[in-house]
Amino acid sequence: MAKKIIITIDGWSSCGKSTLAKQLAKELGYVYVDSGAMYRAITLYFLRNNIDLAEKKEVKEALKSVSLEFVFNPKRNNSEIYLNGENVEYLIRDLVIAEKVSDVAAIKEVREFAVAQQKKMGDKKGIVMDGRDIGTVVFPKAELKIFMTADNAVRVQRRFKELYDKNPNITIDEVKNNLEMRDYIDSNREISPLRKAKDAIELDNTSLTEKEQFNKAFSWAKERMKIK
Ligand code: CDP
Repeated sequence: MAKKIIITIDGWSSCGKSTLAKQLAKELGYVYVDSGAMYRAITLYFLRNNIDLAEKKEVKEALKSVSLEFVFNPKRNNSEIYLNGENVEYLIRDLVIAEKVSDVAAIKEVREFAVAQQKKMGDKKGIVMDGRDIGTVVFPKAELKIFMTADNAVRVQRRFKELYDKNPNITIDEVKNNLEMRDYIDSNREISPLRKAKDAIELDNTSLTEKEQFNKAFSWAKERMKIK
């Protein structure tokens, strides 16, 4: 018998966290939660409603009208995020959202709102969640914490390819600048900055195939699932 655990995957922008998290969740029959999607969906709501990020009251009020939900889509074999009942999974991947999301995610009220929901999702364990502060703040007692890294150039290429498939007008420079900007804001913000948790295992996947990366992480997970 194996015990159910919590697996956290944190790290820099576009270093393959969600790919690994989805594979682990699938193999283990666990729930996968993309915490970044929540910050992206909140950003979409704020942009649509012209919320002034500098106005604390306005931000607080706006959050009262934000309802987020993950719904499994069997066609894509993936869970997708809904903002007030609307599937926004595709819209939130746009560069327009990526340009603003780190500013939104640095706001205390926004983090409290998202983190409270994320903690609840882990109540029953059996979950893989990726993000920036999952091992440090959301689940500090998680049984397995992974901190992912990859060379900047590799990360830029990967994200460029993803975005180019949707929008051929996008340039490498736009993608590079966005990743650099987000990494800077995410790791320098006051509240819950991106950090490797002390007990996290570092996984640099610059020269690993998806299969190699998965095998490593899966063996760590199996080890932690053993009942001692
Ligand atoms: O582009 P990538 O998949 O690497 O990022 P994401 O996971 O979609 O997250 C988008 C942004 O949300 C990040 O750049 C952070 O500003 C914020 N975020 C956060 O602050 N904390 C998390 N746990 C997850 C994301």
